[in-house]
Amino acid sequence: MAEVKTFVKRWIKPLPKNVINKIAAGEVVERPASVLKELVENAVDAGSDRIEIVIEKSGSTLIRVVDNGCGIDEEQLEIAFSRHATSKITNFSDLDRLSSYGFRGEALPSIASVSRLRMVSRTPDSDAGTEIIIEGGILQSKKPIAAQVGTTIEVEDLFFNTPARRKFLKSQSTETRHLARTATAMAISSYRIGFSATLNGKKIFVLKPDNSLSDRATALLGNDYKFIAVKGQLGPVRLEGAICLPENVRNNRYGQYLFINGRFILSPTILHAWVSGYGELIPRGLFPVGALLLTIDPTQVDVNVHPSKTEVRLAHEREVYDAVKKLIAESLRQDGIIPNLRPIAQQQGISISDSSSNQKDYNSISGIVNNAAATPGLISRLYKTVAIADSNRQVEIDKNTGELITPSNVVEPDFGPASGFRFIGRFDNLYLLIAAGDALFIIDQHTAHERVLYEEMLEKVEKQAVNAQHLLFPVQVELDPEQYAVFEESLELLNGSGFTVSPFGGRMVNIEAVPAIMSKKSPEKMFSKVIDDIMSLRKTGYDIKKAMAQSIACRSAVMAGDFLTEAEAIGLMEQLLKCKDRYSCPHGRPTFLRFSRKDLDRQFGRT
Ligand SMILES: Nc1ncnc2c1ncn2[C@@H]1O[C@H](COP(=O)(O)OP(=O)(O)OP(=O)(O)O)[C@@H](O)[C@H]1O
Ligand SMILES: [Mg+2]
Repeated sequence: MAEVKTFVKRWIKPLPKNVINKIAAGEVVERPASVLKELVENAVDAGSDRIEIVIEKSGSTLIRVVDNGCGIDEEQLEIAFSRHATSKITNFSDLDRLSSYGFRGEALPSIASVSRLRMVSRTPDSDAGTEIIIEGGILQSKKPIAAQVGTTIEVEDLFFNTPARRKFLKSQSTETRHLARTATAMAISSYRIGFSATLNGKKIFVLKPDNSLSDRATALLGNDYKFIAVKGQLGPVRLEGAICLPENVRNNRYGQYLFINGRFILSPTILHAWVSGYGELIPRGLFPVGALLLTIDPTQVDVNVHPSKTEVRLAHEREVYDAVKKLIAESLRQDGIIPNLRPIAQQQGISISDSSSNQKDYNSISGIVNNAAATPGLISRLYKTVAIADSNRQVEIDKNTGELITPSNVVEPDFGPASGFRFIGRFDNLYLLIAAGDALFIIDQHTAHERVLYEEMLEKVEKQAVNAQHLLFPVQVELDPEQYAVFEESLELLNGSGFTVSPFGGRMVNIEAVPAIMSKKSPEKMFSKVIDDIMSLRKTGYDIKKAMAQSIACRSAVMAGDFLTEAEAIGLMEQLLKCKDRYSCPHGRPTFLRFSRKDLDRQFGRT
């Protein structure tokens, strides 16, 4: 007879309210920066014109947002913390006309369920405020209290009752960066509101209400940049923007702040349109800094696609792309903004000798390429490298055949043309043509020099023994809030790597010394670029010391367009062949190509 299975009786019952909220909080509140975003959005929705943010211990102990908006009535205060309760929409079609950040009625109950929360709120028509305290979603107290009109909300001990989520929080420095970025983004999109933000005991900005987006972008993204205002309407888009000159580009996207209908949005497509609006004015791999505020008919924008509302779906994405690209291109081409505007492609020509004249216009508009003419600074920089590199390591090349050989057959190196390398010429002040024995080498001067400097720097950064060059007069540079967080995190390492840098109040940094190999360049620019490099490399999981060495190497290496003398070219080749990983630069791009006589014969059908 078949065995009769027994089942435990299972009851289906609704989950308790605070469990539902805790589960929902997993989606809405990913990290401290998401709490900050929700609270500031509520403050903006409340019509405030002054918002104050205070964050302690990277948001793990306190996130406080104080506003002077409309406040919440005493009898409504508890309802604000119940799920799906909102004053911002009443039916689904309201989403088509949405003019507020909020619409779900989920933020407050979610945050309250995973923290100890205190809110004090007062409306203009009541004489006193009300204080409500909720811990882990459970109401602790509610009582009248003296208060200014507006709302103060304090979120303490975030995730105290969800240990798994608390454990998954990244390092304090990562959370600080996210918080700085969120605060910056909110202050940009609401540039008419006065903001102040204190992060981990430090005031990161105090901003009066601004009249223009450019003023706010300048105040937040750095006084060193000059922003061009963009304003226009095209197709489905009304665009207001503050975008940097091509010479202020960065090597990562963190300076690009994009908003659609006021929301800080991650849209690779529109970010791409922004970059392509610059056309050939900026080289590939570099990105503009600034802010773009797009206004699009809400019926054409679906914000209800992502719990944290960081993505939107656009009904006519292609048209939006084209409009953004065109409006940016037009603003950049306005008379007088960019002198000598010429596409880079037109400036490139084949030359075996000096092509410095070709490069001049490009230098003046991009600031990326150094002066092409042979400058004493460049020569001494390169010779310095040759002189300080480890000359005990042996060149592993057969000077007669040009073959790279194993260490057992090594030949002692000697510098200069007598070494067996014959300099043939240079192509476009980038590729060096060198013959050795039976082989022809084509060397990319930038990647090759980067490799040489990287190996040298890595050793020195490890030993904290990078040579420093003290500046005659210290200089100050203002960083944006996210860059400043990276600066604070890497302060010790920076100071052991040739820089002498210290906080100088606000987001200013005082620079007293820079690594000696960088000393010929603008210290402020070099310093901000090193910070940007560390920021990007850290995000890709790079070890911070390697990131530092790579950044210093990349920023100090000779560039495409720099003119190298024959002796410098040979010296560079010698140094490169002594490197451990001589075949590629630290970013993985090749440093040289080698063609033997046989390879060439084969290509020309001579075999
Ligand atoms: N700082 C504030 N000032 C005035 N009212 C507020 C404030 N914060 C919240 N509220 C009120 O509390 C309600 C609930 O806030 P909550 O953030 O949970 O939802 P929401 O903003 O309506 O929607 P969403 O979940 O999309 O943010 C809001 O609709 C608003 O009426
Ligand atoms: Mg809200």
